[in-house]
Amino acid sequence: MFSKSQFSWMMPVSVVWTLMVNVLNQVRPNPINLLPEPPSMALAPQKICIVTGSNTGIGKETARKMAGYGYSVVVACRTASKGESAASTIDGAEFIAPLDLSSFSSVRNFVKEFKAKYERLDVLVNNAGMNSFDGGSESVDGLDLCFQTNFLGHFLLTRLLLPLMEKTEAPRVVNLSSVMHHFGSNLKTAEDWKLGMKVGCANAYSDSKLASVLFSMELNRRCPKLKSFAVNPGAVNSDIWRVMKERNPFLFKHVISPIFRTIYLDTDEGSVTTVAAAIIEDLDPATSLYLQPYASPEKSKTCHPLWEMMGVFVGFSATKARLPGGDGEESGRGLWDASTELCGL
Ligand SMILES: NC(=O)c1ccc[n+]([C@@H]2O[C@H](COP(=O)([O-])OP(=O)(O)OC[C@H]3O[C@@H](n4cnc5c(N)ncnc54)[C@H](OP(=O)(O)O)[C@@H]3O)[C@@H](O)[C@H]2O)c1
Repeated sequence: MFSKSQFSWMMPVSVVWTLMVNVLNQVRPNPINLLPEPPSMALAPQKICIVTGSNTGIGKETARKMAGYGYSVVVACRTASKGESAASTIDGAEFIAPLDLSSFSSVRNFVKEFKAKYERLDVLVNNAGMNSFDGGSESVDGLDLCFQTNFLGHFLLTRLLLPLMEKTEAPRVVNLSSVMHHFGSNLKTAEDWKLGMKVGCANAYSDSKLASVLFSMELNRRCPKLKSFAVNPGAVNSDIWRVMKERNPFLFKHVISPIFRTIYLDTDEGSVTTVAAAIIEDLDPATSLYLQPYASPEKSKTCHPLWEMMGVFVGFSATKARLPGGDGEESGRGLWDASTELCGL
């Protein structure tokens, strides 16, 4: 996820910065952008939402909140037992079939099962993700495992579900990005992107999170009826740090975990920006394509990654993403074309 040089300066700076901000948080009203109260009655007609990777972490809290807003939520998880167990703890959620985003055939099979049961889809939250501490693992389709899990699997899922979404009044697609999109490669043409998706291209996590922003932008351009947003959920104390835990159990338990618990958002807070992108009616992708949970100094300028790593938690706030070429247009088109080809669409 981080290169060694990125990690060596980001970690200490972010810890000091966040300790300062925690003090600030004590004296400010917090958060500023609250989510609306859940409705007292169920939505009519019953609206459907899919949340990928919702057996744990930010995804599980997102599924819980969406069910609270009256959506019928499909928890889309790769392991049936984990998905069933998550659904059993959320009133209004169900598990219908496994979804392994690192396999194109699993994505296609999930869509087949979903279409057999539902005729509409209102909100798709492309949340599932893995980091790439190990780097360079290969998916069953011969592509970079991290890039396929985080981006290509979601690209295929979204494209296959678009016809169902376009039947609804106000469809939304929320793509989980990250502050790490700032460190994405300067990939522009379809050929650049195809090379970037190969196994061993070291920047897979950052590139997948940049791709999520560009994909949101392209969806808005190509599907005028739909609204799509990219979300950096903030630095969240979730299971995404499991590789660190497996590698250094002692250090993790006694040093890293207590720091994360103190300074990072919990998964309840970490799901606020995603849910805002899914339900706040007057959010407009033309002005708020990329959302993150901290107060940001200036909306019109791409802010420094530090402002997006930690800060004063305000719920959700629009920030300018860092895109290749400034506007990301050529890169977005290249990404769309390369992904369409690789997904066999
Ligand atoms: N936590 C942060 O600080 C942070 C910061 C920026 C962005 N994000 C993004 O937020 C999203 C949610 O992350 P999180 O922090 O909630 O992480 P998490 O607790 O590790 O949850 C990740 C979820 O994705 C699922 N997943 C992983 N590989 C999958 C695959 N091949 N197919 C289907 N599902 C798969 C996991 O399932 P299993 O349990 O079966 O592995 C799990 O449900 C990710 O996209 C992440 O990149 C997180």
